[in-house]
Amino acid sequence: MNQQVKIAPAEGKLGILIPGIGAVSTTFMAGIEVVKRGLGQPVGSLTQLATIRLGKRTENRTPMIKDFVPLADIQDLVFGGWDIFEDTASEAAANAKVLEPTLLNAVKEPLQAIKPMAAVFDQEYVRRINGPNVKTGTKKEKAEALIADIEGFRKKNGCSRLVMIWCGSTEVFHKPAAVHQTLATFEEGLAKNDPDIAPSQIYAYAAIKCGVPFANGAPNLTTDVPALLELARDRNVALCGKDFKTGQTYMKTLLAPGLKARMLGIDGWFSTNILGNRDGEVLEDPGSFKTKEETKLSVLDQILQPHLYPDLYKDLYHAVRINYYPPRGDAKEGWDNIDIFGWLGYKMQIKIDFLCRDSILAAPLVLDLVLFLDLAQRAGMKGVQEWLSFYFKAPMTAPGLYPEHDIFIQLMKLKNTLRWMRGETLITHLGLEYYD
Ligand SMILES: NC(=O)c1ccc[n+]([C@@H]2O[C@H](COP(=O)([O-])OP(=O)(O)OC[C@H]3O[C@@H](n4cnc5c(N)ncnc54)[C@H](O)[C@@H]3O)[C@@H](O)[C@H]2O)c1
Repeated sequence: MNQQVKIAPAEGKLGILIPGIGAVSTTFMAGIEVVKRGLGQPVGSLTQLATIRLGKRTENRTPMIKDFVPLADIQDLVFGGWDIFEDTASEAAANAKVLEPTLLNAVKEPLQAIKPMAAVFDQEYVRRINGPNVKTGTKKEKAEALIADIEGFRKKNGCSRLVMIWCGSTEVFHKPAAVHQTLATFEEGLAKNDPDIAPSQIYAYAAIKCGVPFANGAPNLTTDVPALLELARDRNVALCGKDFKTGQTYMKTLLAPGLKARMLGIDGWFSTNILGNRDGEVLEDPGSFKTKEETKLSVLDQILQPHLYPDLYKDLYHAVRINYYPPRGDAKEGWDNIDIFGWLGYKMQIKIDFLCRDSILAAPLVLDLVLFLDLAQRAGMKGVQEWLSFYFKAPMTAPGLYPEHDIFIQLMKLKNTLRWMRGETLITHLGLEYYD
């Protein structure tokens, strides 16, 4: 047994603050209200459904994760958020058309009470949409207004803790600039309205300033810059991101490690999607798509390590397309064609046709992330939480460290982190002792 990590108890209400009251966040919030009332199951959520093995296989100790580590209770969650549109969460959920109207009706009351606060928005960063519910002033004034929103929400709802999770649109691709290098340059940039500071970075700054842990569900740069990492360290705040690993990339990170495990080669991997929700519309813009493409493409390279296995993966041709196709709404279809080769180079093909529902896959990830981030914060774990890579297409890591994309390694890391927190022996799967 190792030493247990000291974890503050999960007492009182946990406020979940969400920039972006759209398909994912309303499916998450409505789902939680449905679960609170016993009208549905939180399928897809590790924190609610998974067990964790402790000790040797002969010990038969497999508690539920939620009984093993002190997580906030679902009944204690309260929600708030921001959007450029004024629709309540009830109206936004109805517009998103993910959940059935009858189910939404059953939770209409709490959803109607969630009215988006005025957003920090800049059309240079999200070009395809525009709305009236926005803050004005300099970026510094906007950050101050967000801080006032956060503290106002905390007080009004009597929350003992808060977590912020970005479920807003994907912003255009941009790289870290001079203004992102230190906290001092960033704060100067806020005052001077520096164009390189994106709206999502203003939300993250405000959250971290308030000591609120921050997760990024989109591929935006956001907290992946030295200035905000510095602020998180100073304020002892936990961070994680980026980009929920749901449909096609989730499939990719299941399959690619399997092919590599058997040393099968891959010539090409062509992935295409049709998607008809607002996310699909935003991703029609080449700037936003580029941000998404970067995270989607990076996955295979990291898993397959072509520099170590040039004969198998050096010439792999990898392409990802997303096509906006309104008739499908949130019910996305993702096709993958994978050209592989085996013994003596003989060629084979694999086809995947995944008729998925984007927000149904994303909602349980939002739940797990807010509960685990809150746990990390109470355990005094600050900065990037790499053990939450399991949930992301482009996991944040320490500077200079390559991310781990293999979902099974990510899961082992997550569970070992939980064991470490509780002072349990880490599981290496060596198992020689069974044969002594
Ligand atoms: N659904 C999935 O499986 C999945 C997977 C990975 C990533 N994501 C990402 O999650 C995010 C949300 O997806 P969605 O399907 O809910 O999209 P959505 O378009 O339905 O919702 C996003 C909402 O964010 C709002 N918004 C945009 N900029 C904002 C700002 N600056 N402040 C406040 N609100 C703002 C929009 O008005 C919209 O209502 C997207 O970035 C998407 O790429 C989704």
